[in-house]
Amino acid sequence: MTKIAILTGAGISAESGLGTFRDAKGLWSQHRIEDVATPEGFARDPARVHRFYSARRQQAARATPNAAHRALAELEQRWPGEVVIVTQNVDPLHEAAGSRNVLHMHGTLAGALCAACDHRWPAPQEMTTDTTCPACHALRSRPDVVWFGEVPYHLDEIGDHLTEASLFAAIGTSGQVQPAASFVQEAAYGGARTVELNLAPSDISDAFDERRFGPATEVVPDWVRALLSHGPE
Ligand code: APR
Repeated sequence: MTKIAILTGAGISAESGLGTFRDAKGLWSQHRIEDVATPEGFARDPARVHRFYSARRQQAARATPNAAHRALAELEQRWPGEVVIVTQNVDPLHEAAGSRNVLHMHGTLAGALCAACDHRWPAPQEMTTDTTCPACHALRSRPDVVWFGEVPYHLDEIGDHLTEASLFAAIGTSGQVQPAASFVQEAAYGGARTVELNLAPSDISDAFDERRFGPATEVVPDWVRALLSHGPE
């Protein structure tokens, strides 16, 4: 049966009130990536990085899933084959909408990681340089998110999903960050039909068989309704 692999980016959570990165007033227009999203930035000023992620953790805690997240959860429940979401997002909104088969390739705001012993535990809402590791008690706690220059999580498993998928969709991503920006080629190489659902054309729009432009809360439910009524055509 048709396996559907879905890549999501910040655009799917935009209508839930969570900022995207590269739109006007996006997060990268307010903060320098090298200051808050690199290991070097964390080494230089860990308190600044903790403030950045604690603020995003609090914002995510107040956000609720939107119609796009809910449509993908319904697709997972009603589709006869496997539906897997590979998300670049660190927010919990796919799971909050009911999706179960979700891979966070850039980690999650909900996770904490000890840079000394690699222990992982549920992050406190406010993490600071005084947050000790529950396992080794070192003062080397960091958000369990993947920074620029670090290796994304679950890449082997993601590669298998892309090879096996008959349908690949990218939703709400500008296609400017690797390796996610190349997933459409990997899926197409494995024989998948590919569709982009985005507010506006992205850097990778030309790589897709089909493109549907508009706000995710409109185009994603429409796409899911079409899939559930006529199949992957
Ligand atoms: N509905 C659908 N798409 C939207 C909406 C919306 N309401 N609002 C914005 N978009 C689209 C934009 O057109 C853009 O193509 O979402 C995309 C957001 O792009 P980015 O801000 O670059 O976010 P993303 O692609 O997820 O970034 C990838 O870069 O900085 C790193 O780790 C970070 O995971 C992030 C990665």
